[in-house]
Amino acid sequence: MVPQTVTNESVALADLVEQLKAHDVGRAQIAFVLGSGLGAFADRVENAKVIPYGEIAAMPKSTVPGHAGELVLGEIDGVPVVLQKGRVHLYEGHDPRVVTRCVRAFAALGIRNLVLTNAAGGIESDWEVPTLMRITDHINMQGGAPLLREEARIENPYDDDLGAALEKAASVAQVPLQSGIYFGVLGPSYETPAEVNMMRWSGASAIGMSTVQEASAARAAGMRVAAISTITNPAAGISKTPLNHAEVVEAGRLISERFCKLLAAFVPLAVG
Ligand code: HPA
Repeated sequence: MVPQTVTNESVALADLVEQLKAHDVGRAQIAFVLGSGLGAFADRVENAKVIPYGEIAAMPKSTVPGHAGELVLGEIDGVPVVLQKGRVHLYEGHDPRVVTRCVRAFAALGIRNLVLTNAAGGIESDWEVPTLMRITDHINMQGGAPLLREEARIENPYDDDLGAALEKAASVAQVPLQSGIYFGVLGPSYETPAEVNMMRWSGASAIGMSTVQEASAARAAGMRVAAISTITNPAAGISKTPLNHAEVVEAGRLISERFCKLLAAFVPLAVG
């Protein structure tokens, strides 16, 4: 017997697909999910049409400050794109299937490429912060996973060709880009220094509270997936001095500028 929650979620997903279809979201060739503080990328979109989540009944809605809650449709360099500004997280109490509903709808509409982005804590003590990191693989320790049994496969969700396009974009745009493994935690509390130590032993370079669910679901639904972390703070125990507020604001400004340059250079390479 199929559990009731799975049936309900299938109905919600089908509703969302229909509602997004009505806005012609399926014409996009690349979908972006923009993490905290990264909404400025929407300014790069030509012929932008903004759809607040409030106008999309089946769209899961976030309660986290700094997450705008709107879709932006348009083009970048002539390539049709859709930007998801604001996502829901497991720590808000949502089920993994709800957290991944929107990327599954993108896949169902035929959008082939997905770029997931997030803010993350940095584990590598010799990386400057802020910095950008291409996610090469992840460790899901969020205590839940979004796949149905029949979808489960052993594979790395992150696509090699899109990863290569990100590396090329970084060199074209002259933006420093690290690469590494993302450790997905439930949150919303941050880690202890002892936990960060354990994560370092695991081989991870960044820690965050999103992305892993969406990456697995989108890959299982047939999308090519790329992901970028903006490392906005050293994780607990890495830095001896706490960041002051002015540094945090400056870090956000700097990283957002570099992030926008990188993604703008990536778009034509991803579909070319
Ligand atoms: N830990 C987990 N998630 C985060 C962090 C962190 O240090 N910074 C931004 N998101």
